[in-house]
Formats: sequence, C-alpha cells, structure tokens
Amino acid sequence: MRAIVSDRYGSLDVLQLKDIERPRPGPGEVAVRVRAAGVDPSIWHLTSGQPYLIRLLGFGLRRPRRLVPGLDLAGTIEEIGPGVTDLRPGDEVFGTADGSFAEYAIAKASRVVAKPANLAFDQAAAVPVSACTALKGLLSVQSGQRLLVIGAGGGVGSYAVQLAKARQAHVTGVCSTAKTDLVKMLGADEIVDYKRNPSPAATMSSWTPPATDRFPNCANTSRPRAHWSSSAAKAAASSSAASPAPCAPPCSRHS
Ligand SMILES: NC(=O)c1ccc[n+]([C@@H]2O[C@H](COP(=O)([O-])OP(=O)(O)OC[C@H]3O[C@@H](n4cnc5c(N)ncnc54)[C@H](OP(=O)(O)O)[C@@H]3O)[C@@H](O)[C@H]2O)c1
Repeated sequence: MRAIVSDRYGSLDVLQLKDIERPRPGPGEVAVRVRAAGVDPSIWHLTSGQPYLIRLLGFGLRRPRRLVPGLDLAGTIEEIGPGVTDLRPGDEVFGTADGSFAEYAIAKASRVVAKPANLAFDQAAAVPVSACTALKGLLSVQSGQRLLVIGAGGGVGSYAVQLAKARQAHVTGVCSTAKTDLVKMLGADEIVDYKRNPSPAATMSSWTPPATDRFPNCANTSRPRAHWSSSAAKAAASSSAASPAPCAPPCSRHS
C-alpha cells in the first residue's frame, strides 16, 4: 500500500510517499481503508521531534518510533481481527489509529465509531483528536458557568466553544479579526479580538471571574506574541484552568 513515511526527525521534507506492506489487524483490531486523515499540532511535534521531551516520552529518541505518522482518520472497515463483534467490513467509521497517513491503518476497535451519515469523510477526520482534547478540558463545565476560551477559532478552541454552549455555559471567545464571524457562528456570546485589543491584561482583569469560572487556553503558544496566552496563564494560576494536555490521548468508546 502507499503511505507517507518519516524515518527521521526534521521539517516537512522528511515525509515521503512510499510503498510499504499493508498491515493486518490483530485481536480486537480493525483494518480501516483510509478515506481522509486529519492533521493537528501533534503531527508537527512528532515529525520534528520537538520539543525534545516528546522523544523521552517514548516516541523515539533518534528517529520516530512510528514509521507512518497520522492519528485522526475516517474511512471504511476493510477487515476485522479476532474478537471484534460490533463492526463489519464496509462500515463507515471515524476515530484514531496510529499511522493514518496511509491507504490502510490498523485501529483498536474501541477507537472507532460509526460515521454520522451527514458528515463527509474529510469532515469526520477533522474531529477526533481536537474535539476529544476540548471535551476532556470541559468535562466539569456546568450550565451558567462563564468561560473565556483563548484561541476560540483554532482546532481545539472551536470545539471548546461549541461544547461549552451545548452545556449552556456563557462563552467569551478570544480570536483574531478574521475568525470573529466563525466564532460567533459557533455560538460564542461575546468575542474579544486579540488583534485589535492591544491590552489583554486590562480585559483579563476587568473579566476577573469568581472561582467557578474558567479559562480554557486553546491558543497555540508556539507562535510569537502570545500575549493572550501568557495573560491567561497568569490569571489561570489563581483560578481554575483548563488547557489542552501536551498530547491528550484520543477518546475511546470504552473509556
Ligand atoms: N489539536 C489538538 O488535538 C491538540 C491536542 C493537544 C494539545 N494541543 C495544543 O493546544 C493548542 C491549540 O491547538 P490547536 O489545534 O487548536 O491549534 P490551532 O488550530 O493552531 O489554533 C491555535 C489558535 O491560537 C490562536 N492564537 C495565536 N496567537 C494568539 C495570541 N497571541 N493570542 C490569542 N490567541 C492566539 C490562533 O487564533 P487565530 O487563528 O484567531 O489567530 C489559533 O486559532 C496548541 O498548543 C496545541 O499544541 C492541541
């Protein structure tokens, strides 16, 4: 099968299209014919090997431990392994599998679910890792709580806004000018445009919440000028905070 492979750490030019052996599912696993694969910041971390800490966390000291990158996927079940009873070849699914940047990927059966018919494969493949990261950060959010979502127009933040609204929280989304319509459309009650607001510290202090309110920080702090992120971090230190884990494990149907 054809797959994107990376056998060393580096910038995107380490990724190559190659023919490799098609993997077969073991017990409790399924082979998915990949129709779409998602990209989130972890792909960059695992391709570049940065920050170096991730190499110590088991992803490979000198080179990536996994030859084929990719985690998010949507596709059809091609083959089921021993012990899988609730999925059948031909089922349309989405979820996560190590090595989704390939024609076929092996997933634990518990890590894929039926794809809703009203979602295209590429839409479904953009959901699992980012949405589960947001979901894990917002599990304790309750109706009426006020949230300031930093990076509300990003991969994690756009799910955080929708999930918080589904829990009937009051959401203020921080995003750039270009994303304000999107974040409003996602349901935010108020928007703070960080490009036009030169003084996040003033807004943050005027927003100072009671102890039950939260600052989900979904901004990509690897970018320069992370004013809002650093302000949020300071405010969060004296309040309850929810930030994406450096590499949050995707949701599982059985967890
Ligand atoms: N995606 C995942 O599954 C995942 C999982 C675990 C951890 N994380 C971490 O979570 C963070 C966000 O990930 P993501 O996938 O949502 O990234 P993303 O799609 O790149 O979104 C990051 C957002 O940060 C905002 N931003 C950039 N500079 C800012 C500033 N100075 N002030 C306020 N906001 C700023 C951007 O807003 P504008 O676009 O409006 O400029 C952008 O929408 C990253 O640190 C990532 O490593 C992500």
